[in-house]
Amino acid sequence: MLRVVVCVSGGGTNLQAILDAVDDGRITNTQIVGVISNNPGVRALERARQHNVPGICISPKEYEKREAFHQALTETIDGLNPDLIVLAGFLVKIPEELVRKYSNRIVNIHPSLIPSFCGVGYYGLKVHEKALERGVKLTGATVHFVNEGMDEGPIIAQKSVAVEDDDTPEILQRRVMEQAEWILLPQAIDDIANGRIRVVDNKVKRTVE
Ligand code: GRF
Repeated sequence: MLRVVVCVSGGGTNLQAILDAVDDGRITNTQIVGVISNNPGVRALERARQHNVPGICISPKEYEKREAFHQALTETIDGLNPDLIVLAGFLVKIPEELVRKYSNRIVNIHPSLIPSFCGVGYYGLKVHEKALERGVKLTGATVHFVNEGMDEGPIIAQKSVAVEDDDTPEILQRRVMEQAEWILLPQAIDDIANGRIRVVDNKVKRTVE
């Protein structure tokens, strides 16, 4: 059983997609052992509780120093003893020590086709605003392992989504979630749980079945 901790910051629709996929068997050999949010009172924590998964809030605002927040985050994650950490809309930069400790065991979902529209400043709705500003006809989502860089780790999976002429950032965000994020992230977790992928030379290779 792959022990998975999911980190969230807001609505938690990606978390919901994961919980549903565990329930209906699209993700196998996996147990969601905890959900961590940096924001109190978010819908994502409610979704965890509804699924009898412990939902824990660790807010940076409750710590005077960033290091103390990082320590609390690390201790909480370590205490859950995860095999995999999933960043599902987690808007906190993961401390480097944690990245090193869980090398190739942290995955992130990003709402664009990396390397487009990613890196510092590209998060949430901003990603879709930039895509519309540039006038791209295709965008999408990417699931990747997290390394020390920003959105630079080995790419696990990508899925493209069409941009329509009259899209707003909100409409495009929703389409990218529905057509890409909610599908890709559960698939990637299932692939990891069932040993179908490995990292070679900073690239993800699929194990041939
Ligand atoms: C998603 O678009 C994710 O890709 C981005 O933030 C959003 C999170 O949505 N980084 P939710 O909290 O899963 O509903």
